[in-house]
Amino acid sequence: MDLQRRGLEMGGLLLLLLLLSVVDGSPFLLFANRRDVRLVDADGVRGESAIVVSDLEDAAAVDFLYAEGLIFWTDVSEEAIKQTHWNQSSNSLKEALGTGQTVVVSGLDSPDGLACDWLGKKLYWTDSETNRIEVANLDGTSRKVLFWMDLDQPRAIALNPAQRYMYWTDWGEEPRIERAGMDGSNRKVIVNVDIYWPNGLTIDLVEQKLYWADAKLSFIHRANLDGSARETVVEGTLTHPFALTLSEETLYWTDWQTRSIHACNKHSGDKTREILSGIYSPMDIQVLEPYRQPYIQTPCSNNNGGCSHLCLLSPVHPFYSCACPTGVQLKPDGKTCKPGAEQVLLLARRTDLRRISLDLPDFTDIVLQVDDIRHAIAIDYDPVEGYVYWTDDEVRAIRRSNIDGSNAMMLVTTEINHPDGIAVDWVARNLYWTDTGTDRIEVTRLNGTSRKILISENLDEPRAIVLDPVNGFMYWTDWGEHPKIERANLDGTDRLVLLNSSLGWPNGLAIDYAAGKLYWGDAKTDKIEVINVDGSNRQTLLEDKLPHIFGFTLLGDYIYWTDWQRRSIERVHKATAVREIIIDQLPDLMGLKATKVTETYGTNGCAVDNGGCSHLCFWRQQAVSCACPMGMELLSDLQTCVVPEAFLLFTNRDNIRSISLGTNSNDVAIPLTGVKEASALDFDVSERRIYWTDIQAKTISRAYMNGSSVEHVIEFGLDYPEGMAVDWMGRNIYWADTGTNRIEVARLDGLHRQVLVCKDLDNPRSLDNPRSLALDPANGYMYWTEWGGRPRIARAYMDGSTIMTLVDKVGRANGLTIDYVDHRLYWTDLDTCMIESTNMQGLQREIIVDDLPHPFGLTQYRDFIYWTDFNLRSIERAEKRSGLNRTVVLQGQLELMLDILVFHSSRQDGTNECSHNNGNCAHLCLATPAGARCRCASHYTLNPDGRNCSCEY
Ligand SMILES: *[C@@H]1O[C@H](CO)[C@@H](O)[C@H](O)[C@H]1NC(C)=O
Ligand SMILES: *[C@@H]1O[C@H](CO)[C@@H](O)[C@H](O)[C@H]1NC(C)=O
Ligand SMILES: *[C@@H]1O[C@H](CO)[C@@H](O)[C@H](O)[C@H]1NC(C)=O
Ligand SMILES: *[C@@H]1O[C@H](CO)[C@@H](O)[C@H](O)[C@H]1NC(C)=O
Ligand SMILES: *[C@@H]1O[C@H](CO)[C@@H](O)[C@H](O)[C@H]1NC(C)=O
Repeated sequence: MDLQRRGLEMGGLLLLLLLLSVVDGSPFLLFANRRDVRLVDADGVRGESAIVVSDLEDAAAVDFLYAEGLIFWTDVSEEAIKQTHWNQSSNSLKEALGTGQTVVVSGLDSPDGLACDWLGKKLYWTDSETNRIEVANLDGTSRKVLFWMDLDQPRAIALNPAQRYMYWTDWGEEPRIERAGMDGSNRKVIVNVDIYWPNGLTIDLVEQKLYWADAKLSFIHRANLDGSARETVVEGTLTHPFALTLSEETLYWTDWQTRSIHACNKHSGDKTREILSGIYSPMDIQVLEPYRQPYIQTPCSNNNGGCSHLCLLSPVHPFYSCACPTGVQLKPDGKTCKPGAEQVLLLARRTDLRRISLDLPDFTDIVLQVDDIRHAIAIDYDPVEGYVYWTDDEVRAIRRSNIDGSNAMMLVTTEINHPDGIAVDWVARNLYWTDTGTDRIEVTRLNGTSRKILISENLDEPRAIVLDPVNGFMYWTDWGEHPKIERANLDGTDRLVLLNSSLGWPNGLAIDYAAGKLYWGDAKTDKIEVINVDGSNRQTLLEDKLPHIFGFTLLGDYIYWTDWQRRSIERVHKATAVREIIIDQLPDLMGLKATKVTETYGTNGCAVDNGGCSHLCFWRQQAVSCACPMGMELLSDLQTCVVPEAFLLFTNRDNIRSISLGTNSNDVAIPLTGVKEASALDFDVSERRIYWTDIQAKTISRAYMNGSSVEHVIEFGLDYPEGMAVDWMGRNIYWADTGTNRIEVARLDGLHRQVLVCKDLDNPRSLDNPRSLALDPANGYMYWTEWGGRPRIARAYMDGSTIMTLVDKVGRANGLTIDYVDHRLYWTDLDTCMIESTNMQGLQREIIVDDLPHPFGLTQYRDFIYWTDFNLRSIERAEKRSGLNRTVVLQGQLELMLDILVFHSSRQDGTNECSHNNGNCAHLCLATPAGARCRCASHYTLNPDGRNCSCEY
């Protein structure tokens, strides 16, 4: 034997322990040793071994492909099959060092046995966790499950490509040795008596004998390849034989107890000797020599037998069969595979997504290669573009990827709290979801654009959602205090409770379009029930062994569900109620979706040209209804959305809502989080931000108009901040606090806060219950109303100086608003129930509207004033000079509408000295009629330069 035979290709991590001695005629033994794979000279005189690959986790089975210089091994910790090269043509070990280890098959559970088909260039392996035997090309492609039933603890596997058979051992409840064609055909048990722990298995290709080692019964037996003519080879001297191999006349085996490799004569069992001892953990063993892999022509040698994917050898005519990757069916031609699975079950687990083909009976799950799944919950699929959609409540996102996991992307990442249900409208190309955190049902286009809130009221714990695009309905479950199943049009209108009795936690919902039925699974009542889609004819389908249903879906005749407690996926035939387990013993099961991969169902008016809609198209009771994302409004063509020039904003308890100025009411809540009781409201048009005070949380906050980036600007020292205004020129925020009796100012981000006016106990007219606040930064004035002992409207410079009473003899004035064009003040009077106006000096006082039930908030835009009314719960407008042409803008059910304003750039025009570089002030630049003045935050004093600030202490 020359050095060429000894060349070991070593990877980057590989370490060469020693050069083996040269002894002609003795082969190498290749064995797995958990932490490494080694070679040892079969002669064994030196008792030394060389490491092929090191730093492994848990190498168990080994095999090789001599002709290509490849060594394969399984790693049961890494749950993979890996390979390395060894260079057979190198003359020295140094040259033999080459490329390292690569994973060829991943996503295994416990790959205990491995065999390389050196003729067909395939890997066969057993998995004692999934209880499967699989085959794949050497690079792991075209992986296929051959056996998935009646396997208990499959371990060793050996091939005999000449006879086209495979053999394996099973040391489970019914220990045995089985054989089958290498294509999975003709399976047969060949040994099942006098067998307990059949660990090792090898084939004598020359004499056509099967050898195996039994670790419990401590013997090595052999038999003919059909199990007949069984005889003992070694007995009595064995302790715990594990793996077994042979070469020419010699049998080699590893032993767990002696931690050695032993050898003996294969016929007589004598000449027993020890090849290597003191091994860390001897596992599988092979003789690494070409005689173990003789070349023979097979039916697959030529043009892969004409097969598009796998050509597998068969013991029966024509001695091969074509096969397809797991989950894919063979076409009727018997040669080529279909493009992929036609029906799949998509599964969300906590930290991965899986795909199970429903075309074939093995139900093998394949993990989608998607990163950073932390807590996936709901899953749906779009058969048109082939995207899988899912929600993740730890990443707080809605994501999608191709069905193989590629091209993963984030679709919605803001204002996502506990997204529990998701549904694709494959016709209108919209995506719906429920969120039990924000308690909303929302929609976007399938690419995450054009987001709109559909339902935000009277949702407690909305979970499952399903759509019926043909009839224009959505259905959802709510497992809150009053559990129910509801229905609405696809645009969220015409809500209807279908069912609200005898429900607990209706987690899953599925619609049978053909039969017009709605099925649901309840995790509290532990039932699967069904109603007609109109809510009638309630019936129970299943009510036993359903401890905790979570995911729920329907395809064809079957309803599929996941169960948290049973850790299983099951299905039931909807007509016969026959049940079947799809997957067992898989923890962290969440949502699932059974679907056809490319075939769609039904159509509607949104299918062509998005129903003519510029943004969202909803099919609604036989007609298209176009809708706009938040921040846009529909033109009178009822198709086109535009960014409105101006719109109304108003506070409504824990909501801030917007509504168009026109009368085609479409008020929507801005998706803000954490609002408790919004009171005063203003905006900053340059950054498109809204600012509001919260009189329950006692904060002043801001957010973008689209609801994102909510932040508290002022969090401390507030009591009842009921007046607030943005100084858009000086970039300051002013507020009036009825509780602390102060008017304060800070930068828009809350920095450099300072008190401008406060109640002076010696001067009762200083400040008494300030309420509504308005700014005129172009002229340097601020205006406010007071509700104290002597209510008034007052004015001061914007630095708090030069306070004067503008209007006396007034009731509790609110909603103070400046008409910057006509230079007039407007307000509502809560005591006289009127809307009044004066010029900026408090003169030319006029009653604009009187006899109102309970006017409260007020704003002005162009020719109109807009106000809210507490009693009518409405928003109304009227011509600002005459009070005529009154029109209801919002005929409300909305309570507690406190403040209202018009969002439009014309209300924040102009500049003053503070607009540029903050008037060169370090802290605050405050406008006054006598010019801008620098001011400092509390506890700072202005330096003599009139600009900078120093700490007082
Ligand atoms: C294998 O060894 C031969 C002879 O030493 C050398 O020419 C060749 O480059 C080596 N191959 C690799 C992949 O290292
Ligand atoms: C999203 O989809 C809509 C409609 O299909 C399309 O008009 C829009 O350009 C898409 N936007 C992005 C960012 O892909
Ligand atoms: C249940 O639904 C019925 C009929 O829709 C309705 O009258 C009843 O008020 C509902 N009960 C609850 C608790 O919502
Ligand atoms: C909301 O608006 C801000 C500023 O206009 C922008 O930066 C942000 O991306 C928007 N967020 C969403 C979800 O549209
Ligand atoms: C008010 O209504 C009258 C009559 O309908 C109309 O002529 C007038 O233009 C309206 N005024 C405004 C400001 O819209």
